[in-house]
Amino acid sequence: MGFLRWGGLVARAALFVSTHSGELPFTARASYTQNTFDAVTALQNWYDVSTGLWATTGWWNSANCLTVLADWALIDRTGASNNMSIATVISNTFANAQNTVATAQKTVSLNGTVSSKYIYYKRDIAARGFSNFLNEYYDDEGWWALAWIRSWDVTQNDAFLSIAEVIFSDMRNGTDDTCGGGIWWSKDRKYKNAIANELYLSVAASLANRVPGRKDYYLDIAKREWAWFKSSGMINENKLINDGLKINSDGSCVNNGLNTWSYNQGVVLGGLAELSVASGDKSYLSEAVGIAKAAIMLLSDHTGVLHESGGCEPNCGGDGSQFKGIFVRNLRYLQSVAPQDAFRVAIQANANSIWATNRDETSNRLGISWTGPVSAGGGPNASTHSSAMDVLVAAIAVS
Ligand SMILES: *[C@@H]1O[C@H](CO)[C@@H](O)[C@H](O)[C@H]1NC(C)=O
Ligand SMILES: *[C@@H]1O[C@H](CO)[C@@H](O)[C@H](O)[C@H]1NC(C)=O
Ligand SMILES: *[C@@H]1O[C@H](CO)[C@@H](O)[C@H](O)[C@H]1NC(C)=O
Ligand SMILES: *[C@@H]1O[C@H](CO)[C@@H](O)[C@H](O)[C@H]1NC(C)=O
Repeated sequence: MGFLRWGGLVARAALFVSTHSGELPFTARASYTQNTFDAVTALQNWYDVSTGLWATTGWWNSANCLTVLADWALIDRTGASNNMSIATVISNTFANAQNTVATAQKTVSLNGTVSSKYIYYKRDIAARGFSNFLNEYYDDEGWWALAWIRSWDVTQNDAFLSIAEVIFSDMRNGTDDTCGGGIWWSKDRKYKNAIANELYLSVAASLANRVPGRKDYYLDIAKREWAWFKSSGMINENKLINDGLKINSDGSCVNNGLNTWSYNQGVVLGGLAELSVASGDKSYLSEAVGIAKAAIMLLSDHTGVLHESGGCEPNCGGDGSQFKGIFVRNLRYLQSVAPQDAFRVAIQANANSIWATNRDETSNRLGISWTGPVSAGGGPNASTHSSAMDVLVAAIAVS
């Protein structure tokens, strides 16, 4: 990555260059910090105080908006506390979102690679409240559990860790022996997929590292979940994780060959990083590094910028517009315990491209395609924006 790719960063970075103009890492960190502050300001224009949610996007996406704010607050304490009152945002969402009469419409389109047929799972969740952040989908529950765990990291408010435990106990009831283990995607118990299981792993391992007196309980669940996941067949020969499992009529289960969405390569990285810390077993990190390297290689273009798997950009649907940031967020979690030059370079290349090519220069809003233009696909909205923000936050952390 040369200076040419820095685009808009250069002008701002110049402010920080004194006599040590060769020390790019320092100037880069200052620039990423400022860019992220500007992006947080833009995100909060979508924040609806009365619902505690972000307008223009869905229920589970709001959990991811909260997570990226909490991650940012852990890195830029001054900006987060003095300027943006992130702790107040967190408390407000905790109080209001679960009482909100929200209509979440979940449309997940899956690409069948073998038959070239498209299989659509479409559902409407009737308007109602989401008490305790529970709904029909174990993956939605997992996103909120992680958001509250990260919020606890910022505030140390035990209400947030408690709600994460409540959510997890509901998720635990979604596991059974079909396919030899794992959690169902939703309460109708029809599909065992990667994302719900990666979230289950990540929440369990994160709780093991945080809840006093219950480490063994959560660690045991996380270890068993990963042992099952690894041999479930969902990880393919390229080390990418497909969408889920097909359940055969004889009860056996095989990789369903559906899309290798970027977030399916992501949540597992953070889960294994937490599991490695909780267990002291570094072999989990090698497994995560293998998946991360495969994903970077197979999902990036020749300039190192990530694009959603399956070629859906810029029309990846209301869910798909969130995915890539989740991958990078978790790549950064992995980087914090298993640093690799290749991961840092990938994170910075994506952050630079987003800021230079995928930003509305007036509003600082960020779109779905990380090579731009910002308006691609009809965005930007709080989903595309918060997803890109994950990369900016990660870039501060690794620079
Ligand atoms: C953040 O707040 C501090 C004071 O609390 C102020 O000095 C600083 O300029 C603010 N930063 C921005 C970017 O507004
Ligand atoms: C647990 O799951 C089973 C099977 O779907 C369901 O019948 C039961 O009500 C659930 N229990 C709780 C406490 O949610
Ligand atoms: C996946 O499905 C979407 C429609 O949902 C379609 O636009 C896209 O081209 C498909 N991608 C592949 C690789 O088949
Ligand atoms: C957000 O924008 C992206 C593309 O820019 C679009 O695919 C997605 O459907 C939008 N989300 C919502 C909830 O409208």
